[in-house]
Amino acid sequence: LREALVRWTMSAPIASVAGEGPARRAVVMTMGALHEGHLDLVRRAREVAGASGQVVVTIFVNPLQFGEGEDLAAYPRDLAGDVEKLASVGADVVFAPAPDTVYPYGDPIVRVSAGRIGEVLEGEFRPGHMDGVLTVVLKLVHLVRPDVALFGQKDAQQLLAVRRMAADLDLDVEIVGVPTVRDADGLALSSRNAYLSGDERERALALSRALRAGAEAGARGAAEVRREASEVLNAATGVEVDYLALVDPITVDDVPDDHSGPALLLVAARVGTTRLIDNQTVEVS
Ligand code: PAJ
Repeated sequence: LREALVRWTMSAPIASVAGEGPARRAVVMTMGALHEGHLDLVRRAREVAGASGQVVVTIFVNPLQFGEGEDLAAYPRDLAGDVEKLASVGADVVFAPAPDTVYPYGDPIVRVSAGRIGEVLEGEFRPGHMDGVLTVVLKLVHLVRPDVALFGQKDAQQLLAVRRMAADLDLDVEIVGVPTVRDADGLALSSRNAYLSGDERERALALSRALRAGAEAGARGAAEVRREASEVLNAATGVEVDYLALVDPITVDDVPDDHSGPALLLVAARVGTTRLIDNQTVEVS
């Protein structure tokens, strides 16, 4: 694997083995500082690719998706540790390019627009973020040429935007969503959890607690889902909520109070200086 890091051999043909399905190239795109959530994506990628397929993991802290005053410079980096972890879960190739490999002409002039999906929720607090994500995802698709790309449900709006890009721009890549991996106490794993002090980590549990409370109210309608979830957040100290929203899982529009069917409950909040996001699907009736 270490050799593969240096020797980037995208040209190797993928053989299909008799008795198996077609061998495929699966990619997991990350910004590194890998945790169990990332590793779960890689394990799933290994299953999807098949034993004779290829699992490619990209590690790239994409400057394009960080806004001014965000944590681009401080973002945790541990390439050696990441490569070690990836070897243990069956990744074949790690692609960890330098910024000027990905952006040889500087900031790209031509970019992908997430449109309305990039303007709501995360987009309201991180303008341009989703465009930056889609632009690098499309570039990495072109560089890696995967058959399948796996993304975490943890970043639900990102997953949705990527699916929409694949559909709207006719990408020949299957997009697979993978459920959120959480610590035993409910906190969704995130590279940014490393910023939290012990006390802040305790406070951060309010996010997943609010989502659970909302989901449990699903049978009592959309208004109750919102009310129960915001009650938990309002009761929490040291948690500054950016948004709490119950939306249509395809359009990202707020669902009406008389909605019935699946919906997505999303929350973003700052705990100290750390910004956290989480979400859960809710069956509303
Ligand atoms: P990053 O935050 O490193 O996440 C990489 C992938 O891991 C994403 O698909 C994300 O949804 C998934 N992931 C993160 N935490 C998870 C968890 N607790 N459970 C399951 N999956 C989890 O998301 C990005 O990087 C970037 O925006 C990227 C797509 C790489 C583009 O730069």
